[in-house]
Amino acid sequence: MNAAHRFDRTYWENHWAPTASNDTRHLPVNPYLSAEIGHLPPGTALDAGCGAGTEALWLATRGWQVTGADISASALATATARASAAGLSSSTEWVEVDLTCWEPDRRWDLVITNYAHPESGQLAFYAQIASWVAPAGTILIVGHVHDSDHGHAHPDGATATQGGITELFTRPDWRVESRYENARNVHGGGRQMQLRDVIVRARRIS
Ligand SMILES: C[S@@+](CC[C@H](N)C(=O)[O-])C[C@H]1O[C@@H](n2cnc3c(N)ncnc32)[C@H](O)[C@@H]1O
Repeated sequence: MNAAHRFDRTYWENHWAPTASNDTRHLPVNPYLSAEIGHLPPGTALDAGCGAGTEALWLATRGWQVTGADISASALATATARASAAGLSSSTEWVEVDLTCWEPDRRWDLVITNYAHPESGQLAFYAQIASWVAPAGTILIVGHVHDSDHGHAHPDGATATQGGITELFTRPDWRVESRYENARNVHGGGRQMQLRDVIVRARRIS
């Protein structure tokens, strides 16, 4: 990976450590959940790389039974506390795992991932979590597009393209239902960030 550091457990644990100052970690729920999966009937859902649980909790408030999975114990401790404070403990579970080598013995009606970029690289990660979608289920991928011109830039290995992602979801097994890129400004930790996002939603046909 072309990065000045590794995106390993230590990196993410430091990222989510409760002592971190100038907190840019708790961003508002991203707009793609409402736009892309707001119409789906609730079922079971996995948030792969859930961080402090913002998107998982959004799903839980809408009736989903959610598994939030992350490599960072600190992130999951925050997510657990937020779920408890929101009265959502019974509809959420938090699992500390390295998703790149996890072998869950179940499948979910919905798998989402938002800006997770593990060391395995983006497309291998997306292919892996796609294998955990139940028949007739949906996957929603929100990732970073390579963009060196803006403040929240990411190295190539942490980014993906719309074309690269959609090539993972081919007929007859999958139908891509939505795909686009979007730039948006986000306010987090007292500062504005510009994000360039790639969004792909696909349904498992068989
Ligand atoms: C940029 S954060 C995004 C967090 C959250 N989804 C959001 O949108 O705010 C990426 C998340 O992926 C998690 N992550 C990275 N590599 C992972 C791995 N191998 N297994 C599980 N989680 C991982 C990190 O701990 C972190 O919480």
